[in-house]
Amino acid sequence: MDLAMIGKRIVKFEELGPEYLDRGTFFGDGVYEVIRSYDGHIFALEDHLARFARSMQEIGIQGLTIKEVRTRVFRAFMEADLPNAKIYFHVTRGSEPRNHTAKEGLKPNFFLTIGSAPDSSQDKEQGVSVSTFPDWRWKRCDIKSLNLLPNVLARMNAVKKNCAEAILVDDSGEITEGSGSAFFAIDAKRKELITRPLGHEILPSITRQHVIRVAEGTELKVVERAITPADAVQTDELFLAVTTKDIVPVVRFDGRLIGDGMPGLLTKILIDRFAVMVRRSQKSELSA
Ligand code: PDD
Repeated sequence: MDLAMIGKRIVKFEELGPEYLDRGTFFGDGVYEVIRSYDGHIFALEDHLARFARSMQEIGIQGLTIKEVRTRVFRAFMEADLPNAKIYFHVTRGSEPRNHTAKEGLKPNFFLTIGSAPDSSQDKEQGVSVSTFPDWRWKRCDIKSLNLLPNVLARMNAVKKNCAEAILVDDSGEITEGSGSAFFAIDAKRKELITRPLGHEILPSITRQHVIRVAEGTELKVVERAITPADAVQTDELFLAVTTKDIVPVVRFDGRLIGDGMPGLLTKILIDRFAVMVRRSQKSELSA
């Protein structure tokens, strides 16, 4: 008899629900997105949906349209009625008995959660500490895949060291990005905003893209190049960029103080400009 064991309970294999046979669980065979709203308006929804579409396409998941995803996101957002929400969703290739190759025409599984977005005001005012960790990830980090074990191990290592984020360092000794965030440095003398160029080594972060856009109206010049941890500790300002918290200043890197140990002036300017850009996007949404 084909059997399965769920915790301590033995069940007939054919009685297993599809949630137990999800390829997401067996293989991390799926992709995800995290979106947030500010004051009742979802921010950069179309950017996130476009990235989701690309992630699905890159791994060949079919059978879920972006139009349908957009409808589901709005439905959940309306129902939850949270002005500042964090919306997580993923799609997996589907459910079937464990087999590396997937059956033709498998129906993808969609899953979404919505809750309050974290309050990042304290992080913004005081800054956070980060620590480095080897980048053990695969060679297509541009796909927002469910395979996050290296990110999880890196973040857990950072938290053990009382740090908020792990900064991943590749085999050539250069920083790629955070375990769950984009990474920026500011050279105040040269007026440079430095971040790693897009490529297969990092996620095309939506926040990164918007940070670059808001920086364009300042005296900062955007320079896309990789830096090492030794460069990072010498830089005047560092920050993380992520959907859930937008810009978070980094004040301590591997135990070394950055600047005077308080969020830098140029980072604060970017935080303010980001907030203005968010409000403007809400107004243009209302008048559209
Ligand atoms: N993480 N790099 C990585 C590896 C990430 O996981 C994330 C986001 C980012 C920032 O991307 P964005 O600006 O589009 O949020 C960069 C999400 C929030 C997460 O996994 O929870």
